[in-house]
Amino acid sequence: MTLRLPELNPPVRLLMGPGPSNADPRILRAMSTPVIGHLDPAFLAIMDETMSWLREVYQTKNHHTVPMSATGSAGIESMMVNLLEPGDDVIVGIIGYFGQRIAEVASRTGANVRIIEAPFGEVIPPERFEEELRRKPAKLIALVHAETSTGAQQPVAEVAEIAHRYGALIALDCVTSLGGLPVKIDEWDIDAAASCSQKCLGAPPGLSPVTYGPRAIEAVRKRSHKVQSWYLDLNLLFAYWGDGKANNRVFHHTGPISMIYAMREALRIVLEEGLENRFERHAKASRAFDAGLEAMGLSLFTQGPRLPMLKVVNIPDGINDAALRQRLLEMNIEISGGFGPLAGKTWRVGVMGVNASMHPVVTLLGAMEQALAEQGYRCDRGAAVASASAVYKI
Ligand SMILES: Cc1ncc(COP(=O)(O)O)c(C=O)c1O
Repeated sequence: MTLRLPELNPPVRLLMGPGPSNADPRILRAMSTPVIGHLDPAFLAIMDETMSWLREVYQTKNHHTVPMSATGSAGIESMMVNLLEPGDDVIVGIIGYFGQRIAEVASRTGANVRIIEAPFGEVIPPERFEEELRRKPAKLIALVHAETSTGAQQPVAEVAEIAHRYGALIALDCVTSLGGLPVKIDEWDIDAAASCSQKCLGAPPGLSPVTYGPRAIEAVRKRSHKVQSWYLDLNLLFAYWGDGKANNRVFHHTGPISMIYAMREALRIVLEEGLENRFERHAKASRAFDAGLEAMGLSLFTQGPRLPMLKVVNIPDGINDAALRQRLLEMNIEISGGFGPLAGKTWRVGVMGVNASMHPVVTLLGAMEQALAEQGYRCDRGAAVASASAVYKI
């Protein structure tokens, strides 16, 4: 008898949490094109094209710009393990959970981790980095550009200027910002940055676009210890992706072909739309969501400069967090709960990638209003959708 097992049949959800966002159908189509060998000349040409498009999205000329074969966390880890050696000093800016995570990753390299913190929901004034560097030099400043746990947007250009004035490098987590907010690597003079595939770039999770500038590459070359991680060692990784000089490619790991197709298509979509248009689309969806939220009588948690693509919403008194999110899931809509100290107090809503547009925003607002009303929350019914859609009226 032939064994028959159930077909894969996941629900179709509107993904309005902090990521993944819904993948663009063009990207899913690209992923289903034929797999070829990872050293096939045709694939090497696709890698080169993907690198060059990624440079445009990161607004950089850095040769060392690739989608690493792993999720955003590995891109962040690659920055720490390549740029830090045991005994080095690193200053980590913490404005939420993902900054704490950078500090944890950095501490595992044997570096001396010095922390500068701001209360959750706020950002760190750049002068605080200067005070810390004046007190004691450091090799690296690492910080999160778009803090997904609090919805705050950390100013980074000023921090980069300070870092370089004191001879330090700067590494950035742009997991949530890339593709939805300007990330100007060259103009801001950022030495290293890492992002992900599954948020504003609109591809499935699985790759971490990273970029390394000349100072960072020099620091890696001058290391006195081997990079502790074989997989994340930039020297080995760029022997496969190409170091920009010799054109021979050396086997490092088997490139995740279909995911690189996905990234290539995601970047093609971003560049065809145009970076400025894409940022404006995210900003408009953000304004629409905020208008709807306010009309419902809800408020945002974030005190500091806010992100357009990630909203941290205060849960009103008397509303059961888990029950509300479960109700939304029954309507095939996903949002997320708060992180750490914000768990049970906030929701995290993503307005990212293909979902940064009118239909997903008004769909979510209408569903939230219904789910809140079922728990006895009182508001002006219909006002949220009316206010959000008004933002899109010409
Ligand atoms: C700011 C930030 N950094 C790092 C990560 C980790 O990325 P990944 O889940 O792709 O490993 C996330 C994931 O949500 C994030 O929001």
